[in-house]
Amino acid sequence: MNILVYIVLFALLFIFSVFVVLFLVVSLDSLLRRHDLPTSRRAMRHLVKIISQYKPEAANFYDLGCGRGTVVLHIKGEFPHLKVYGTDNSAVRIFFAKLKAMLLGRRVKLAKQDIFKTNLRDADIVYTYLWYDLMPPLEKKLQAELRKGALVITNTSNFPNWKPVKKVITCPKVTKLPDFETLFVYIKN
Ligand SMILES: C[S@@+](CC[C@H](N)C(=O)[O-])C[C@H]1O[C@@H](n2cnc3c(N)ncnc32)[C@H](O)[C@@H]1O
Repeated sequence: MNILVYIVLFALLFIFSVFVVLFLVVSLDSLLRRHDLPTSRRAMRHLVKIISQYKPEAANFYDLGCGRGTVVLHIKGEFPHLKVYGTDNSAVRIFFAKLKAMLLGRRVKLAKQDIFKTNLRDADIVYTYLWYDLMPPLEKKLQAELRKGALVITNTSNFPNWKPVKKVITCPKVTKLPDFETLFVYIKN
């Protein structure tokens, strides 16, 4: 066989192996750490509408618990003027978010960090899609740190004390989770 054929076969095998390894890493991370559901396309369409309605001139957007970057990359695509930040405490998810950002050429800031250590003093918009038990302490942090008038959108889970100015049901009831894929819109007092 021609040496060129060997080179092509080797390259294809290498690419295939890389994909298999990446797939296994994602699956293992998802299995072990869970809470890995990305925001749906449908909910993101509503999220874009909410931002356009309430904060079209915002400068800084944060996704707290950004996972593999689904929301941060979409928001950067829709609002190129925004500075978009994503933090997640999973190094694997941040690695994939950075890889996707590089491949798509989207300039977003991503960091492996606990959301409770993320400085939100310059945030105009905060988005979260987090498990229910994180919402009471997160509400306290946002109350203490966010500036007045900041827009906060939570997906599925909501805050115990803050009252939403709007509630958008983006999905028909398909799971037992209360308010699954419902967006709660808050304006910080
Ligand atoms: C349901 S996923 C949402 C991902 C993304 N925001 C989206 O909507 O597509 C929740 C993410 O929050 C992250 N997370 C949960 N608790 C966290 C914490 N205390 N600090 C940072 N990230 C956290 C999880 O690792 C997970 O990736």
